Amino acid sequence: MKAKTTLGGAMLMLASLAATAAQPADFLARFEREARQADGAFAASPARGEAWFQARHGREWSCSTCHTPDPAGRGKHAVTGKPIEPMAPVANPERLTSDRSVDKWFRRNCRDVVGRECTPAEKADVIAYLMRVGS
Ligand code: HEC
Repeated sequence: MKAKTTLGGAMLMLASLAATAAQPADFLARFEREARQADGAFAASPARGEAWFQARHGREWSCSTCHTPDPAGRGKHAVTGKPIEPMAPVANPERLTSDRSVDKWFRRNCRDVVGRECTPAEKADVIAYLMRVGS
């Protein structure tokens, strides 16, 4: 009886772990779905994401200023000089696996680079680009 309860508990824990561990493809699917609410024909484009990631948007920085033009390489913060681990999942398997980190950093970095939150379409394109790096 006791063993059964413990096994049940362990299975429940595994199930909730599986539910919280997101994959890059989950974020792509989520932002594409959100973008389709505004544009039913929207499909994420790695090429568009790459151009957008490398470009400035009326302000001083681009995404590549801190993350460097090569998302498979290590970045460096434009202000503090602190190293930033690679952005591409191929070079850094922890990337695009945490709701909290993805939401927080898109919000902060988009404000700095674009002066507003990014649209779901912009986020989907960037993620499609980062997922394509190295493949
Ligand atoms: C001023 C420097 C800076 C700029 C510019 C910048 N970032 Fe970042 N970014 C960071 C830092 C610092 C972190 C958090 C540290 C880390 O995760 O290594 C981060 C983390 C992220 C993450 C979290 C990824 C994850 O799964 O952990 C995403 C997504 C991201 N940035 C996207 C962008 C995008 C898109 C742009 C352009 C709109 C951008 N960043 C521009 C500094 C910057």
